[in-house]
Order: sequence, then C-alpha cells, then structure tokens
Amino acid sequence: MPENSFQFDILTLFPGLFDGLRNESLLGKALASDVLGLHTHNWRQWTTDRHNTVDDLPFGGGPGMVLKPEPILSCLRELTPQRAAKTPVVLLSPAGRLFRQELAQEWAQGPGLILLCGRYEGFDARIEQHVDHVVSIGDYVLNGGEVAAMAIIEAVARLLPGVIGNAASLTEESHSSGLLEHPHYTRPREFEGEPVPEVLLGGNHAEIDRWRRRQSLLRTKLRRPELMQGLVIDKKDRTWLDAEWAALQAAAAPASDDRD
Ligand code: ADE
Repeated sequence: MPENSFQFDILTLFPGLFDGLRNESLLGKALASDVLGLHTHNWRQWTTDRHNTVDDLPFGGGPGMVLKPEPILSCLRELTPQRAAKTPVVLLSPAGRLFRQELAQEWAQGPGLILLCGRYEGFDARIEQHVDHVVSIGDYVLNGGEVAAMAIIEAVARLLPGVIGNAASLTEESHSSGLLEHPHYTRPREFEGEPVPEVLLGGNHAEIDRWRRRQSLLRTKLRRPELMQGLVIDKKDRTWLDAEWAALQAAAAPASDDRD
C-alpha cells in the first residue's frame, strides 16, 4: 500500500455494488494512480456456522431480521490492526447523525475510512460500541448502507489532492462556504427565450463576484432557509436580499382581483 494514499475499507454483504465506482470516472482514475485504495470485505466470510448466517430474528419481536454482531466484529478486528490507528470506523444507518460537508472535509485529512454497510433492520446495537461514528446521508431509508457509503466515498475522495484537477472548484461549490452555490451558465447566450444574465457577459469581475454572492444568498434562503441561521450578511447584500425576497413574495401572491 503506497504511503500518503487514502484507504477506504468497506464492510459489505454486497461487494459487487462497488464495481461501478471502481471502474468509472475520476474516482476510477484516482484508484488506478494509487492516490486512493478501495477495499471491500464481505463479512459473511467471517461467519462460523455451515449456513454462513449473518442475521437473526429481533429480540422483543417485530418485522425483519437483525444483523448478528459476531461476524462483522471478527471482520473489523482482523482489519483494524492493518490500518492506521486514527482511521475512523463509520457505521451507516438512517438512525445516524447527518453526514455533512464539514465531516467530509475532516475525514479527507486522512488516513482513511472504514465504512460498515448495514442491511435489513440494521445491526445489533452492540456493534455501536466498536465504531467512532453512526452516520446517515439523509432523512430517508435505503435498502442498505452501500449507496450511502458510495456517497461518502465520493464526497471525501474528491477533496483529496490529485483527485480533482481544479482546486478552485472545491472552494466555490455548494456547502464549502455554508451556502448553496450560485447558478452557472454556458453557451448559448440565449436558450429557448431565456438569456444569460447580462452581468456575466460584461467581464467586470467585482460585479460578477457580487452577483454570484447574492444569488447564493437568495438560493439558500429559498431552498434551504435553515442554513441562513447565524449567517453574517453584509449590509448592502442584506438590503438587496430583502428587496429581492419581497419582490418574489409579491409575484407569488395572487393579485386581489384574481380572487372571487
Ligand atoms: N442505510 C439505510 N438508509 C440509510 C441512510 N439514509 N443513510 C445511511 N445509511 C442508510
């Protein structure tokens, strides 16, 4: 394993799901160039009974099956001594704390990540004592942790030096500043009657920066108002935002003579 490379270890019952990630896109290139390592471990191989049982009925009753603690823990115990001591162990679960960009940035400092992907009703709760984080990628339930692990792998890997060519695109994108990113436009200058905003065509970079900052504020207030809490906004930007907001509200409200 080359030094300075970032190692992802994924404990999963469905390792084949990660083949696409391995072979495609920038991530595939990074894997080929040794910036990254991606290793899957099917913990069914750590079962000791002849049926290779990974799950069992829940104590207390209820639907579905629960993942037994022994094989996953055996797998984890065999793996951890092979990894750097600081490598976080992360269990994916819809009952976890929300995964956000700050966590991706923290984890991208290295040396790697160990990701535990659940299935069925999830893991026996006693596994949680052996992990550093229980993380969810959003308030919805997937069939298992694999897609969540892939989201985390992509979010972390693209922050590593050498994975994405243009470092500026990392600092300007949504969530890196706590706001949603401003809109982007490319050619044609007019598309189905919609022109590109004039300011982007003029080459005045101070004006373009201001327009982008304000569009970020407006987008965030519209789509993710909870992200605006505690945000310090320049006075002129605040005045612009309040006026724009009032105009949008007025446009959305039905005119009084539309009502019967
Ligand atoms: N497993 C199932 N749903 C999940 C979610 N939303 N996040 C992380 N892991 C999951």
